Amino acid sequence: MSAALSEPPPVAGEPRPAGAARRPLAALVRDLGYSPDWNWSWSAYKDTVTAISAEYGLSRHLEVGGGRDPLFTPDEARRLGLSVTLNDISAAELALAPAAFAKLHCDVASPDTMRVVTPGSYDFVYSRMVMEHVRDARQLWRNQYEMLAPGGVALAFVPTLHAPPFWLNRMVPEAVSSAIVSRLFPDRHQAGDNPKFPAFYDHCFGDPNKVVPMLEQAGFRETLLLPFWGYSYFWKIPVLKQLDAAFTRLARARDWRLVTSFAYILAVK
Ligand SMILES: C[S@@+](CC[C@H](N)C(=O)[O-])C[C@H]1O[C@@H](n2cnc3c(N)ncnc32)[C@H](O)[C@@H]1O
Repeated sequence: MSAALSEPPPVAGEPRPAGAARRPLAALVRDLGYSPDWNWSWSAYKDTVTAISAEYGLSRHLEVGGGRDPLFTPDEARRLGLSVTLNDISAAELALAPAAFAKLHCDVASPDTMRVVTPGSYDFVYSRMVMEHVRDARQLWRNQYEMLAPGGVALAFVPTLHAPPFWLNRMVPEAVSSAIVSRLFPDRHQAGDNPKFPAFYDHCFGDPNKVVPMLEQAGFRETLLLPFWGYSYFWKIPVLKQLDAAFTRLARARDWRLVTSFAYILAVK
């Protein structure tokens, strides 16, 4: 800890000096300024991917479920020396993605995925708001392990149970939850800029005890689960907004993993 305090934090994307020891993931995200507030999970996601990539020397990226809104622009990828492939289960989503990126059109969580992906062909496999849409997260992580070269890293940024909005989304029929979401967020209908996809939340938890065994069974050797609390879903609903904010503050202060809102699930092959 003292070394981290006496050194300036590294700039995301800057390679470590030659010979510098590679920090474990936990030290790296701490140096990035990890905060359990949900705003940090969204604002620091790109810097986290960039910093891990630089620290671990990961240049062949696969963004899972990158769809129409990939993490990096082609210019950024070029500047950072990254070879980025965009995956999606939806050809329509991939068609909206930048033409400059390579595309991999497949279900990443199928027992057949590795028939179309060369084992060990990626150094970094990451996704944002995708794992909750997969019915079988175990198969997803087995596939991600196979896709990675030795020393490669997988990161899934997920919404977690049992945060009330996500728990409701899981419990109520899809037609009802879609209607509620498009009422609260007008662009979130199927033809909008930010469509809602059916969600299952398999293994989407902020408690490492419920997630890490799955990662270890897939073969990963180093794992890290970063929890986050908070969201904006109830901000337009007076009274509920204040009650929910008070509950969120309490849950975060007490480290209640049962009711996290988001998590970064990280694993090194
Ligand atoms: C909620 S969107 C997230 C898109 C983007 N990652 C982002 O953060 O804006 C979920 C994306 O995952 C894709 N997806 C869902 N299940 C998938 C699967 N099994 N394999 C690959 N992509 C999948 C969807 O088609 C969609 O593009």
